[in-house]
Amino acid sequence: MKNNKLSILCIVGARPNFMKIAPMMRIFNQPGSGISAKLLHTGQHYDAAMKASFFDQLGIPEPDVDLGVGSSSHAVQTAEIMKQFEPQLDLIQPDLVLVVGDVNSTIACALVAVKKGIPVVHVEAGLRSYDRDMPEEINRVLTDQISELLLTTEKNAQANLVREGIDPKRIHFVGNVMIDTLFANRERAVPPKEVLAGLTNPAQFLEAESGYGLVTLHRPSNVDNPEVLARLLETFAEISQRMPLIFPVHPRTRGRINAADLTGLLDSDRIALLPPLGYLELLGLMNSAQLVLTDSGGIQEETTALGIPCITLRENTERPITVEQGTNTIVGSDPKRIKASFEQIVTTGGKRGRVPELWDGKAAERVADVLLQWGSRAASAKSP
Ligand code: UD1
Repeated sequence: MKNNKLSILCIVGARPNFMKIAPMMRIFNQPGSGISAKLLHTGQHYDAAMKASFFDQLGIPEPDVDLGVGSSSHAVQTAEIMKQFEPQLDLIQPDLVLVVGDVNSTIACALVAVKKGIPVVHVEAGLRSYDRDMPEEINRVLTDQISELLLTTEKNAQANLVREGIDPKRIHFVGNVMIDTLFANRERAVPPKEVLAGLTNPAQFLEAESGYGLVTLHRPSNVDNPEVLARLLETFAEISQRMPLIFPVHPRTRGRINAADLTGLLDSDRIALLPPLGYLELLGLMNSAQLVLTDSGGIQEETTALGIPCITLRENTERPITVEQGTNTIVGSDPKRIKASFEQIVTTGGKRGRVPELWDGKAAERVADVLLQWGSRAASAKSP
């Protein structure tokens, strides 16, 4: 404890971390919060479109430290973060290191911290796809094993953690910080008309009788194998004949499409290819979409919170509540299943769904409460 405040070093690295950290930084930095928070960005994502616009739009303070590690293989990226994080941690010496989600930055910083005897808080703990081919699954399992406090978004997560031998006393169901950001920004979302203003034919999407669909795709399992990628793009082209599609393309996906020479498959005036978008632009498009086709983890949750039908292009999900209670349907990458799910949504309007428990815009406040309780227990354990 410094100046009687609990000092927390918050870590971000990649795009999906930014919307999770934003509401926590805001609550932690409020006067009288009892918490003093610093922010460290590993630099895993570095393009303006993948980073800067999120900091601006979500009011995230400039990081106190930016490691600037950039992209490379998993091993090099993870090792580089660890190497550069250690001396920073020595300088800052926080009471706790807080990591979010499941990206390489999450496990890298958690591992360094725990080995230095600094307890780790994992926000969004306990999610499991039970698919160890996903790099994120490895990151989740390992981060949870070495975390002192495990803060969960849904009750399935608690059961997963207990099965893995985690002491239930360390697990706290706080809700979903990403949905805090969603609800706080819904009114500020950029209208689709503005997002599409640069297109030659925005009316094709904005005034289509069918409405438009929104596509996002970046998982290695979908984009790294050219055959799988081609099959998915052909399926999008087919669907676009029924419903025009807007597709902001992740840098990884853009690279794979170019490398496999597949650009021609998307050459249609019914598919709008956009660069990666800012948070408020994507939210605007998502909020007005008829349906979403995605392999993102976060978008499965956001569509559930917004009540928009979501077709998930993966064989499994670590977020089962979005299927059990929300608007999500898991279909994988098989064109037949994707098209069947699309048809079903077009004819029935899709699952109605409801917003899961504690996805109420107040999760960051509960996170702060749990951390402060931990802080006072730690302080009284230390006092003679
Ligand atoms: C990472 C996360 C994934 C998350 C995704 C969201 C891991 C293991 N994966 O995947 O869980 O859903 O972020 O985007 O941490 N690139 C750029 N500019 C950038 C960042 C990346 O051009 O700012 C390109 C590079 O070519 C890079 C590729 O995208 O090689 C992949 O980036 P990387 O951070 O390794 O993984 P993602 O696929 O983005």
